[in-house]
Amino acid sequence: MTERELMQAANSARGLSYSPYSHFRVGAALLTKSGKLYLGCNIENAAYSATVCAERTALFKAVSEGEREFAMLAVVGGREGETAEFCSPCGVCRQALAEFCPPDFPILLGTPERFEKFTLKELLPHSFTSENL
Ligand code: THU
Repeated sequence: MTERELMQAANSARGLSYSPYSHFRVGAALLTKSGKLYLGCNIENAAYSATVCAERTALFKAVSEGEREFAMLAVVGGREGETAEFCSPCGVCRQALAEFCPPDFPILLGTPERFEKFTLKELLPHSFTSENL
């Protein structure tokens, strides 16, 4: 799967976003090292703090099905009807990713047409992991 295809998958995952409160729709596509694809969208809740982001939806779907080795993540988001230039993963999602992904893990952000590749370490420097315990 190419990087562009992974971004397109994240964009299509946006279609299922349940975001009646923020009207901010996010999709994530997580590729495993074995080549499997897990999609996620943000799922909001009337009790706002129960909301889960697209990235964690995809990650938790994958981990709950036995996956622990990941190759790449793509994220596409923006207000309803728009696509943001970047939809940067929130701090909680960065931390959740750091549990399973190494510092050089690649994360694609942008639109399916124009995106940039970051490493997890760039997004979450000086992270707290199991090695600190
Ligand atoms: N959101 C995500 O799903 N991923 C991000 O990277 C940033 C924020 C969601 C959470 C909430 O449903 C909405 O976007 C607005 O914060």
